[in-house]
Amino acid sequence: MQLTSLQCRGFRGLADIHFKPGPGLNVLGGANAQGKTSVLEALLYTATARSHRTTSDQELVRHGTDEFHIIAETQAVERAVRIEAHWWRGAKRFKVNGLSQSRLSDILGRLCVVFFSPEDIALVKGAAACRRLFLDMELSQLQPTYLRALQQYRQALRQRNELLRRDQTDPDMLSAWEAQLDEHGKTLMRERAAYIATLSTLASACYERVVADEPLHLIYRPDIADPDAIAATLCRARKTDLLRKSTGRGPHRDDVEILIAEKPARAFGSQGQQKSAALIIKLAEVELMRGPMGEYPLVLLDEALAELDGERSQRLLDAIPESAQAIITTAQPGQLPALTHRVTHMFHIERGILEENAP
Ligand SMILES: Nc1ncnc2c1ncn2[C@@H]1O[C@H](COP(=O)(O)OP(=O)(O)OP(=O)(O)O)[C@@H](O)[C@H]1O
Ligand SMILES: [Mg+2]
Repeated sequence: MQLTSLQCRGFRGLADIHFKPGPGLNVLGGANAQGKTSVLEALLYTATARSHRTTSDQELVRHGTDEFHIIAETQAVERAVRIEAHWWRGAKRFKVNGLSQSRLSDILGRLCVVFFSPEDIALVKGAAACRRLFLDMELSQLQPTYLRALQQYRQALRQRNELLRRDQTDPDMLSAWEAQLDEHGKTLMRERAAYIATLSTLASACYERVVADEPLHLIYRPDIADPDAIAATLCRARKTDLLRKSTGRGPHRDDVEILIAEKPARAFGSQGQQKSAALIIKLAEVELMRGPMGEYPLVLLDEALAELDGERSQRLLDAIPESAQAIITTAQPGQLPALTHRVTHMFHIERGILEENAP
């Protein structure tokens, strides 16, 4: 998939921009606070209907205005897709190829992106919730069935928690929601297990190429080991759950363990190791999201190489598939072309105004 054009109006500190990246490796350079991350954030918003930096869309609107508009145009084998995101006074609307879309599942997956931001180090270093969010976001993009199961699981969880909060002990009411949690939780667990197994294989191969002698492994650590035992576990936990007034067990407590050289990277990894691992997990996803026609997702890397040594940076850039389109931001635009001959287009952003430079 190639992004051919991105137009933004009223988004963050960006001026009205029209960004036309080329195929291959695009570099977006500029000093701090000029709008580099905002450009990638706008793209991510058209792909996922959310920002990676905030859950409040209000923050995305340029100060002093009440409306933003983003149009992303992509070209994939045999099809062109135009996605429009329009936010006006608290209401967001999406159009795909001119047709209004009412459900999130109709938007996700239209523009396939893999996004790495400096915050993604939390994937390795942060709490389990960060890894669950990652799993949920990625699997929802990949499979509409996962998104549906997730929405229904969350709904059932809210309902069961509500009963617990109200000290409601009626076994029929509890077991009705437990059956729902069981049904949809199973789907989540099965998809997560399969996804992590594939991602781990791809990530270890990639990590080995970048950091020669340290193996990287990802292991799915479900809260309830057996996907067929969710309802039974919840039933047994009712007493404790009534005391804590929330559901203490289930896939909403799952985790993924990340090991570097057989040791948990969360506790023992250096800053550079943690960052490389997070980045390589994202690059493994690029492989995993390759479509049936062999098309790669759009790769967005925000300040991906800052803090990494020259050799590691070079190998990481080499790990981006040749035929993938990538947009890489950097506050040191001289750095990237020096590391790779693959840079095809250079852009510069200053006070929200974006222009193309000669590479
Ligand atoms: N809603 C908004 N309206 C106007 N300006 C905003 C809004 N949200 C953020 N900004 C401003 O946008 C500027 C640039 O943000 P951005 O994070 O895109 O910069 P950046 O080039 O990625 O910087 P860095 O190199 O430090 O990461 C910041 O100065 C910020 O104050
Ligand atoms: Mg930034």
